[in-house]
Amino acid sequence: MDKVRFGIIGIGNIGTVHTRYLLAGEIKQARLTAVCDNNPEKHPAIKQMVGDAIPLFSDAQEMLDSGLIDAVIVATPHYAHPTLSMMAMRRGIHTLCEKPAGVYTAQVEEMNACARECDVVFGIMYNQRPNPLYQKVKDLIDSGELGEIRRSNWIITNWYRSQSYYNSGGWRATWKGEGGGVLLNQDPHQLDLWQWLVGMPVRLRAFCQFGKHRQIEVEDEVTAYAEYANGATGVFITTVAETPGTNRLEIVGDRGKVVVENGQLQFWRLRESETAFNARWDKGFGEPECWQVQVPVGPECSDHQVITANFTDAILHHTPLIAPGLEGIRGLTLSNAMHLSTWTDDWVTLPLDSQRYLALLQQRIAHSQEKQVVSRTLDASGSW
Ligand SMILES: NC(=O)c1ccc[n+]([C@@H]2O[C@H](COP(=O)([O-])OP(=O)(O)OC[C@H]3O[C@@H](n4cnc5c(N)ncnc54)[C@H](O)[C@@H]3O)[C@@H](O)[C@H]2O)c1
Repeated sequence: MDKVRFGIIGIGNIGTVHTRYLLAGEIKQARLTAVCDNNPEKHPAIKQMVGDAIPLFSDAQEMLDSGLIDAVIVATPHYAHPTLSMMAMRRGIHTLCEKPAGVYTAQVEEMNACARECDVVFGIMYNQRPNPLYQKVKDLIDSGELGEIRRSNWIITNWYRSQSYYNSGGWRATWKGEGGGVLLNQDPHQLDLWQWLVGMPVRLRAFCQFGKHRQIEVEDEVTAYAEYANGATGVFITTVAETPGTNRLEIVGDRGKVVVENGQLQFWRLRESETAFNARWDKGFGEPECWQVQVPVGPECSDHQVITANFTDAILHHTPLIAPGLEGIRGLTLSNAMHLSTWTDDWVTLPLDSQRYLALLQQRIAHSQEKQVVSRTLDASGSW
């Protein structure tokens, strides 16, 4: 194989983005050879975009069985991600799944077990992982430069979404159609980066507000507090109803502090660790000497095609994946745990009891109602 033949399932907002860069030949060793969308109303527009040479399917299984594709991007609403991904993997088709990996971890555990059995490359579209800002934070942590982590705070409130956004798709922001709100749709990138950088907590307590600012069933505002095995703590704050919003990640280690905000990384480095300073300092007031360090950060590269290109290289050349599909369960575990903590008004200890979560989610699904679509227009930024 010198070029990977791609199919895409779900040609909505993000499926269209994937279609366009593949059609434009932006990934040299990949080409688009089939597309699929199960909504026939969308077919004329999709045909217009891809032309007659690329077959358009209504049924995902037919496309997967067609022999036309080596790899697939699953870009449907979240609930279908694990089902369609497993359908592809069982046919030996390399699978790149959109975020979130699924809606509830029990379903994603099954998908991960399937991926381990099938000899395919399995990736997840975490296109913020290659962002040089977060790459550099990871480097500072993994190299020990920041010291042992003590505290992390992420305020991610610049996901402003109006009521008309929610009214644009019946599946959006319902327990039945989407299985969550800001945590499931907008925050999966930050939840993944949070765990990728500071690891998974041992327990968390969260306060989700459901339909507080918007007429939706699911959460539109969340504050969560997490505790880690080494005693570190973390806070995650998010909403879709605040403007102007903030996107500020602050991580404090024994040797300094890093802040990512407004597209910039700031790093304060202690000359000696806080632990060492505290052990030797005998003059009452005083603090360790601190240097603000200019850390070089590469140019922005968090486009989706970076992940698709890396996934293509993994298929052709065994290049390590930037975002392995098996890791998708971690961010989802955090969001499921935040729901569960709110529903039970209690701490949630990890590993998550995935069956308990599913049982409580099903209760909400039973009373969930898909919205009437009153507006079909979404601006180009879609749901991300
Ligand atoms: N990585 C990112 O930055 C990013 C950005 C946007 C969306 N997403 C994710 O992508 C997914 C889709 O989001 P969207 O905003 O594009 O949604 P959308 O509603 O605009 O598009 C989904 C498309 O999938 C089609 N579809 C649904 N079920 C199908 C099936 N079984 N077979 C074939 N087609 C099917 C629908 O007809 C629709 O055209 C979501 O999970 C979302 O979280 C990721």
